[in-house]
Amino acid sequence: MDKTIILAAGEGTRMKSKKSKVLHKILNHTILEYVIEASNLSENSQTIVIAGNNKEQIENNFKNIIIRKQEIGHNIPYGTGYAVSCAKDLIDDDDNILVLNGDIPLIRKETLKDFLNSHKQNKMAVSVLSTKLEDPTGYGRIIRDENGNFSKIVEQKDCLESQLEVNEINTGIYAFNGEKLKFALSKLNTNNNQGELYLTDCIEILKNDNQKVAAFSNLSFEEFFGVNNKFELENAEKIMRMRINKKHMIDGVILHNPEYITIDKDAKIDIDTEIFAPCSILGKSEIGKNCVVKSNSRIENSKIYDDVIIDSSVIEDSVVEKGVDIGPFSHLRPKAHLKENVHIGNFVEVKNATVGKNTKAGHLAYVGDADLGEDINIGCGVIFVNYDGKYKHRSVVEDKAFIGSNSNIVAPVYIEKEGYIAAGSTITKKVHQGELAIERAEEKFIKGYVEKKKIRDMKREEK
Ligand code: UD1
Ligand code: CA
Repeated sequence: MDKTIILAAGEGTRMKSKKSKVLHKILNHTILEYVIEASNLSENSQTIVIAGNNKEQIENNFKNIIIRKQEIGHNIPYGTGYAVSCAKDLIDDDDNILVLNGDIPLIRKETLKDFLNSHKQNKMAVSVLSTKLEDPTGYGRIIRDENGNFSKIVEQKDCLESQLEVNEINTGIYAFNGEKLKFALSKLNTNNNQGELYLTDCIEILKNDNQKVAAFSNLSFEEFFGVNNKFELENAEKIMRMRINKKHMIDGVILHNPEYITIDKDAKIDIDTEIFAPCSILGKSEIGKNCVVKSNSRIENSKIYDDVIIDSSVIEDSVVEKGVDIGPFSHLRPKAHLKENVHIGNFVEVKNATVGKNTKAGHLAYVGDADLGEDINIGCGVIFVNYDGKYKHRSVVEDKAFIGSNSNIVAPVYIEKEGYIAAGSTITKKVHQGELAIERAEEKFIKGYVEKKKIRDMKREEK
């Protein structure tokens, strides 16, 4: 069976954070999530995460993975070799074990698959994935003999002067035969400058046991970039952002200033849609064809159909059908559903409400907990008063109703087809089909008011 062991028990001290390093986020997903996703090589492969003091934090974030705890403390061994040995009980003799560090979010599944296949085809005891770096500082070096055959890995801190020159490095990705791995782990020792059990020593151990070992070099060094501090976190995010955005552009989406557009790895966008920075398309959002998303918009976990225009607006957990236009400065909160050709203008908030075809709310309105039909006009400043201080209530408005400006619809209220609400009314009762509902104090006209006021003010000033 293919099994992946992800090493994530390190303390991550350089991150300077109370949060576990691998749970820091890149484009809204944890570093570890990217690594787990890439290492999920097939339906029947298994992923095991080695956690340390962050075990609980990791468990809370990932429900269906196998976790083994590496105890961390004085008098307990430390190092990548010890970490892998914590999963020894899960390793069967004929398994192919892929081992990788948990801090490399840019790694691609295809790269891991190709690597594991080379390992299997060549029937290696252990294979190492290497790459070449202009500046190899900090990494374990791949040491080869006169014939170019791989012999061992030497850590930076244990390197001889001449070995420091080597620019082929260990990416921290290995493939082992299960039986050979268990054998090598049992022979590890701490005779090195860090006093750790190095996983990398397994290679020399197997080589000395006349087993087949190889280092496969891969040129896409970017994928092996490890995140150790918050500067590297930002760097990785930048690379991931452009990787995702490039794919969308190649697939037919138009992005203006893509370095300031954040698109979630799980989002889908159809052709000829145009997005202007800065913008975020987050979660499992889907956007159809030919839409325009203008600057300063955030779309989260929402489904947007074709030909929609969104300007400087926020859309969360909502559905927006074909031909709708929204904004500038409006907010669709969870469970807003706008049907075809709805118009939502400036400063409008919609929440847990359906809005029927062609209905318009042009300015300054709150539509919460309501079901609106088609061809309705919602005037400026209309409020669906949905909350009585303890409970939420729903209102219904049928087709072709007209809600005059600055009205309050105090839920639960039912407004039938073509019902009219006069501007400024507070409506608490059912409005029947074709009725005009008006609720206002009678207008009064006070004659000579300004003259009287002037005299009164003059007397005050004399005092
Ligand atoms: C390791 C490799 C080095 C390689 C580099 C690639 C060793 C000895 N060295 O060095 O050859 O070039 O990765 O990035 O393996 N971890 C545990 N338990 C531990 C120690 C570490 O789970 O006791 C985990 C860490 O969380 C991390 C990974 O193992 O995800 C690598 O550990 P780290 O200390 O970063 O190793 P490097 O010094 O980078
Ligand atoms: Ca590292």
